[in-house]
Amino acid sequence: MSPRKPLGLERSPAFTYHQPTSRIPFRKPPRVLRAEEVSLAALAEQYGTPLYVYSATAIQQRLATFDAAFSTIPHTVCYAVKANSNLSLLRMMAKLGCGFDIVSGGELERVLRAHKKAAKKVVFSGVGKTVEEMKFALDSGILLFNVESESELWALATCAARMKKTARIALRVNPEVAAETHPYISTGMREHKFGIPMSDARVLYSRAAGIKGIEIAGVSVHIGSQITDPEPFRLAMSRVTDLVNYLQAEGHTIRFVDAGGGLGISYEDTPSSDPTEFAKYVQSYAERVLQPLRGLGVHLLLEPGRVLVGPAGALVTRVLYRKQHDGKLFLIVDAAMNDLIRPALYKAHHAITPVTLADDVPSEVADVVGPVCETGDFLARDRSLPKCEEASLLAILDAGAYGMAQSGNYNTRPRPAEVMVEGKKAKLVRKRETMDDLMGLEE
Ligand code: LLP
Repeated sequence: MSPRKPLGLERSPAFTYHQPTSRIPFRKPPRVLRAEEVSLAALAEQYGTPLYVYSATAIQQRLATFDAAFSTIPHTVCYAVKANSNLSLLRMMAKLGCGFDIVSGGELERVLRAHKKAAKKVVFSGVGKTVEEMKFALDSGILLFNVESESELWALATCAARMKKTARIALRVNPEVAAETHPYISTGMREHKFGIPMSDARVLYSRAAGIKGIEIAGVSVHIGSQITDPEPFRLAMSRVTDLVNYLQAEGHTIRFVDAGGGLGISYEDTPSSDPTEFAKYVQSYAERVLQPLRGLGVHLLLEPGRVLVGPAGALVTRVLYRKQHDGKLFLIVDAAMNDLIRPALYKAHHAITPVTLADDVPSEVADVVGPVCETGDFLARDRSLPKCEEASLLAILDAGAYGMAQSGNYNTRPRPAEVMVEGKKAKLVRKRETMDDLMGLEE
């Protein structure tokens, strides 16, 4: 049996294998997966499993690379809070100069708790903003409302006028660009509930002009999520640019173009571990976004979520049981679809790797499944993994985005704890839920 090469599964600097020094001559101890310089085995021991672990350094590096790619134009990175809304993570993002893209009053509350003065860089997206949420956002003094329908526009105008405030708005337009991604997260086509068709938007901008409580300030677009081909972004931006040119000619002041989020990541088992590859990837995205905008004189807003935090997080889980029947092997682990729903919901692939990895361990094919009473409760199907025993630990990679943020309490399962690692330091940034947390609101 040839020794397994774990390197391909590394997500440097977030998750890499470390070879401990041997105490016994000629015996190599198993490699241990670390978050930065902290052993995931030690974290699992201390905080229990399932456990979300994030690398602060990886997030910082990804943000810096993303930001640098847009350095030729005035811009603000408004991190999409929905990807991972942990307060400590938001606080870190705010300190690094990020603004935020929010889709609810709850997310606004999080942003304000993370940083008192964050509102001035907040954009508010979403098709169903309530009047209460609008009031809250107006009171907080957010930067921009991305309005998604005519009815919403009038509701916002009424709300702002009553409060004697002015809502800066962009219409979220639908550029009719098809993006190659899962149908549940593609948003830029006419049949989707998002945005306003381009032709309708022209009319609506002229109706909105001069309305009390409304200040036309920009144009916004978001074509979908987990898009790894940058070309659709260029197409969307060139359609947005045409609209901006038209609106400016009509006498509107368009100060902002919001390009949305959506840049994907590689969920492959062995993505490139070369950091310059990531810079090149982001650069090619930036070039596509910026090309049509040149000379437009606008401030660019960007709403990346997944690309900043996805590969910086892992879900650590323990194997409870090995179960074999009819030639099929199940590894029943203590994480489930309520903790990470992406595989169940989108058939999403997440690389999985053992936390401790010895040389010469044979591989086996298994379904990695959780304890939830649904056949759809799987984290991986027919996955080839180094053989793992009961009680051993697995790391489910690329779980920093839409992991904990989409978790729930199905089967009355407390949600996992979250830990943020930076260098040698690890900090518990969310405690594991207790039964009182789950049942405290009930009679
Ligand atoms: N802006 C808007 C208006 C959005 O709707 C989204 C994501 C983003 C920004 C951020 O997109 P990102 O850069 O993270 O792709 N739960 C799904 C993803 C849903 C994305 C929804 N909107 C998943 O786990 O793949």
